[in-house]
Amino acid sequence: MSNKKILLSGIQPSGTMHIGNYFGAIRQFVEMQDKYDARIFIADLHAITTVQDNEKLSKNILDITMDYIACGLDPEKVILFKQSDTPEVTELAWYFNCITTMPYLERATSYKDANQKAKEVTVGLFDYPMLMAADILVQDADVVPVGADQKQHVEYARDTAGKFNNTYGETFKMPEAMILKDVAIVPGTDGRKMSKSYGNTIPLFGTDEEIKKAVMGIVTDSGSSVPTNVYNIHMLFRPKNELDAIYKEKEGKYKELKELLIQDIINYITPMREIRNKLSKDMVIEILENGKNKIKPIIEKKMLKIRSNIGLQL
Ligand code: ADP
Ligand code: TRP
Repeated sequence: MSNKKILLSGIQPSGTMHIGNYFGAIRQFVEMQDKYDARIFIADLHAITTVQDNEKLSKNILDITMDYIACGLDPEKVILFKQSDTPEVTELAWYFNCITTMPYLERATSYKDANQKAKEVTVGLFDYPMLMAADILVQDADVVPVGADQKQHVEYARDTAGKFNNTYGETFKMPEAMILKDVAIVPGTDGRKMSKSYGNTIPLFGTDEEIKKAVMGIVTDSGSSVPTNVYNIHMLFRPKNELDAIYKEKEGKYKELKELLIQDIINYITPMREIRNKLSKDMVIEILENGKNKIKPIIEKKMLKIRSNIGLQL
């Protein structure tokens, strides 16, 4: 048994990975894989709250796994698995549902957002925080690295751990959210948070053309000398002092600054692209299968204790 702290996180295979996902989440996992007992999963059960096209879902699962590995995640160091290979989390989410109230879940920003946008919210989407709490708590995770937008969900997991422990006796550890401060929210091409749902992303593994198109589309405010939206994204790729000097020298030359940003992004991702191009579907399937075999015994053991504490184990 290792005495390293347990780090857990998941990412949704719900579309093309963008640089917000990379700087907000994945890069942290990569940096932490040596220091922690790290477990990363593909949150495919969460994804089906939005993706209900089977071909698209399978493709997204494969793609995102390749993306992770290309970004530097090492399956020898990290347990990499698919959430749907651990269906125990849906069982645990049910136990949590039975000690959680509706008004409490109605306060989740994910639900409020969806409620505002969509005409109808599914029960699955409404219950999203409980499934996420199950993912986290079943593994006794110590730290959960996520983007700032997911912080509330980790709070839900903490509350739920407390509630369960009060109801059934000490069962779960308190997880902590870990948020990378300086790039907590990566801005998109329109200045809002970069997000698939806003269509303002720069794809991480896009072609040169796609990256060019996205960067050229960054909204600039012609009134100011510094194109804030370009600068804020550029901050991810160069140290501030270097960037300030360049932006001063090229004041008002938005096109040149965008071209430089395009080049910087391409240079940054080229090594990762090369790794990604070497990965095959079979390799990915095998990696996920290995991950499943490693994580299953850990989860099964915890579930025995949970069922026993609830009184289901006779
Ligand atoms: P999206 O908003 O594009 O749908 P997801 O919700 O799938 O992205 O997010 C996947 C991971 O990437 C999460 O950990 C999330 O917090 C992080 N993330 C997504 N967008 C950003 C962003 N703009 N800045 C920082 N982190 C982000
Ligand atoms: N909700 C997270 C996201 O949108 C994905 C996720 C599911 C997750 N379960 C998790 C993240 C458990 C951390 C821990 O990105």
